[in-house]
Amino acid sequence: MARRKLVAGNWKMNGSRAALAELDAVAAAANAAPQVDVAMAVPFTLIAAAAERVPDLSIGAEDVHERDSGAHTGCVSAGMVKEAGARFTIVGHSERRADQGETSQDAWAKAAAAHRNGLHVILCCGETEAERNAGRAERVVQAQIEKSVPDNADGSWFTLAYEPRWAIGTGRTPTVEEIASIHAIARAKLRMLIGDAADGVRILYGGSVTGDNAATLLAVENVDGALVGGASLTAAKFVPIIEAAAGL
Ligand code: 13P
Repeated sequence: MARRKLVAGNWKMNGSRAALAELDAVAAAANAAPQVDVAMAVPFTLIAAAAERVPDLSIGAEDVHERDSGAHTGCVSAGMVKEAGARFTIVGHSERRADQGETSQDAWAKAAAAHRNGLHVILCCGETEAERNAGRAERVVQAQIEKSVPDNADGSWFTLAYEPRWAIGTGRTPTVEEIASIHAIARAKLRMLIGDAADGVRILYGGSVTGDNAATLLAVENVDGALVGGASLTAAKFVPIIEAAAGL
């Protein structure tokens, strides 16, 4: 089944109003590549300004709370980011798992909240270096998917991202064989959970994606796009990744 490639950026805890100027060239590149979907997750404080500045570009949040409202000081709900102009949110990112102790169960609840509020979801999974060295990468990813993917997930609102933690921000990536293996296992696990709908779900690769390696990584079977951290912060680094996706 043909799935449109998705190139999504994640600014993490970076950026400022001034940095939003980078999005002008990203939006232009996205418009020049209509065969590719392009999205950018930015800090909560920049969502409204980003969505207003580049209305054609899909702007998203990096996280949402699992509840719609209530006494949760400092948290932000899916409805709030939607109202601010977000079209999607990332959930279950490994930095939230590591820094905030989030679990796959939390990611499941956040994905459900996002969907309930009309947001597309990019749900992250991925093993640590110790888990990979112990030969447990496949089992870890399978277990994360099993615990975090909602029963009603389908490609119209749901995307999975495989991000091995040891490849994030390190300049190291798995081999194409390792990526193909995990993505095939992820697809099979999705099929067990949601049946034929699994064919329509995009599975992104994330971890040290750059303009130099994007074409190689995006050509791997079952890699339907990229989730990009550091190289999403400037148009100069992000646009070549969009162009690589468009060239496939
Ligand atoms: P880097 O592209 O900086 O390795 O980050 C990947 C990531 O965590 C995207 O969510």
